[in-house]
Amino acid sequence: MEKQEIRTFGRRHGKKLSLRQSALIDNLLPTLRPTHGDILEIGFGAGEHVRDLARTNPGKIIVGAEPFMNGVASLLSAITDEKTNCVLDEYAGIRIWPDDVRDFLRATDSKFEQIWVLHPDPWPKARHEKRRLLSADFLNTLSKYLADNGEIIIGTDHWEYFDWILEQIKSTTLSATIPDMEIIQTRYQHKNKAGTDSPKYLILHN
Ligand SMILES: C[S@@+](CC[C@H](N)C(=O)[O-])C[C@H]1O[C@@H](n2cnc3c(N)ncnc32)[C@H](O)[C@@H]1O
Repeated sequence: MEKQEIRTFGRRHGKKLSLRQSALIDNLLPTLRPTHGDILEIGFGAGEHVRDLARTNPGKIIVGAEPFMNGVASLLSAITDEKTNCVLDEYAGIRIWPDDVRDFLRATDSKFEQIWVLHPDPWPKARHEKRRLLSADFLNTLSKYLADNGEIIIGTDHWEYFDWILEQIKSTTLSATIPDMEIIQTRYQHKNKAGTDSPKYLILHN
């Protein structure tokens, strides 16, 4: 029997969706299903950074993966015209995988220029540590989906998780740099549950 994968995310549904959001999920979401892409963002939350990637990388296919359906609905609302429900030109490159990214990776042979993971769930309780997404195993998996010179970019304001990721990297074939960088503030960063001064970033290469 195949080993059951540990679930790395929390709830899939939150407050009731608006009629417009439900309609976008029923009618638009199936048309945005990804098969391949140039840039991948894992766990996009409400999708602020996916939108930023689309605006700054015109012509590229940006794949966002997120199992939390209220986040998916927020992104769908933000990338469409309120009257026509059509995708706005600047967001034409966005594709959405509304589920566990690991299922998408098994279904694609894409090699990504960038793979972003911003504020992965820190699962701070010791008994939940095995639910952390960025284990050595998963980082090794991601490394196989990098294009030549491709990079995995990780940001977290949970510094203990940051140090834990650095430890995990030692059991991978990836090399890491710690850049001094700033990007747009996502919803989770704004909450700053960890109470730290700022996020820390990591860039990983094969
Ligand atoms: C703490 S939130 C951060 C959301 C967003 N990146 C931000 O900065 O606001 C982490 C997100 O990762 C998502 N996530 C966790 N495991 C995932 C997986 N295996 N595949 C895709 N998304 C995942 C969760 O559903 C959650 O929305």
